[in-house]
Amino acid sequence: MTQVDVLLGLQWGDEGKGKIVDVLCPQYDLIARFQGGPNAGHTLEFDGKKFVLNTIPSGIFNKDTMNLIGNGVVVDPIILKRELDNLKTAGHDPVANGKLVIARKAHLILPTHQLLDAANEQKMGKDKIGSTLKGIGPTYMDKTGRNGLRVGDTTLPDFKERYNKLVTKHKELLSHYNFEYDLTEKEAAFFEAIEFIKTIPHVDSEHFVNGYLKEGKKVLAEGAQGTLLDIDFGSYPFVTSSNTTTAGACTGLGIAPNKIGSVIGIFKAYCTRVGSGPFPTELEDEVGENLRQVGHEFGATTGRPRRCGWIDLPALKYAIMLNGVTEMVMTKADVLSGFDTIYACTHYEHNGETIDYMPYDIITIKPNPVLKEIEGWKTDITKITEVDQIPAQLASYIAFLEKELEVPVRYLSVGPDRVQTLILP
Ligand code: GTP
Repeated sequence: MTQVDVLLGLQWGDEGKGKIVDVLCPQYDLIARFQGGPNAGHTLEFDGKKFVLNTIPSGIFNKDTMNLIGNGVVVDPIILKRELDNLKTAGHDPVANGKLVIARKAHLILPTHQLLDAANEQKMGKDKIGSTLKGIGPTYMDKTGRNGLRVGDTTLPDFKERYNKLVTKHKELLSHYNFEYDLTEKEAAFFEAIEFIKTIPHVDSEHFVNGYLKEGKKVLAEGAQGTLLDIDFGSYPFVTSSNTTTAGACTGLGIAPNKIGSVIGIFKAYCTRVGSGPFPTELEDEVGENLRQVGHEFGATTGRPRRCGWIDLPALKYAIMLNGVTEMVMTKADVLSGFDTIYACTHYEHNGETIDYMPYDIITIKPNPVLKEIEGWKTDITKITEVDQIPAQLASYIAFLEKELEVPVRYLSVGPDRVQTLILP
């Protein structure tokens, strides 16, 4: 029997998971998205083309790989239909090719979930979480509140009644918020998309994935967002609504912990964060602005500018511990090429005390980063294809990170394209 490898982000998301899953997927028979919703924007580039996937796993462009949207994902039928329509226009039709299946137990995002998301953020004012307003939080709330509708429900004869029952509850809540809305168009699009979703094969992800393992096939679980946004271990309440860690792959697909194989953790050579919440190494100056411009640090789905800062080792160590990371991928090293000097945060400092972990009250105490100066490589690395072309300063930055983090960096990404990826010895 084989095991499930897991690929996930070690920071606050946008580490480049989509690109790396696309690079690795020829090694796998099945790619399975295990959590999150269409707030993910997995960006893939190859042959001069660029695709952004919100719900669909990033193995979709490899003709031999099957793709599963797992039970831990929350699905917006309208967005999923749009994604598949766009792919079809671009000459890729995973539904017709039989390369996409969806878990019956995945929960549905309703148009009213989005309204609730917007109403809640409006009410929070300056304390808002920075939600992508896609209805993801309210959908997970209905899931844990045992109210939700699931993909499998769409084929039941009383689906419409179930829908109306939940929407009535939502409308009551919206009236408390004094939130104005018109549902007509969205609702029509929703039911049209539901008919479409019925044409994607529905499976029980737990049996589907374990069936692959029994047949000795290789499975990669694909995460979304990042470890530091995990609902339990992120900087609560500035987190996402699901478990973004390896444990989330178990519950989000239906696999036992002893079926987990390698855990591949992805991190950027620096740090970014979208939305509110603590970010100890944030650079709110022209250096941060430079990182944002050179790294094109604007959200793939929302276009929101990402906050930028230096790499944060206490945060990475925490993420490695939580996930049991066995190997790492460093992305966007090319973005640092213009810097004479870069920095790595090795510790935090608060009230004269040095700490090397993320404290519980990180939001209120705002610890200062203790930074180590590192010599930059000042060379364009976007075209390098061989390990011996890696500039000495970059090689030494990687060696420093491996020593500090005690996990090997197996892949180095030097640009957004599939081919801009090096396997390290
Ligand atoms: P989320 O689930 O939304 O966190 O997605 P993600 O981890 O797949 O990342 P996303 O695609 O949102 O952001 C990564 C961005 O960086 C994309 O635009 C990628 O094309 C780009 N990218 C990935 N790797 C590299 C790299 O090594 N260098 C550069 N310059 N860009 C990269």
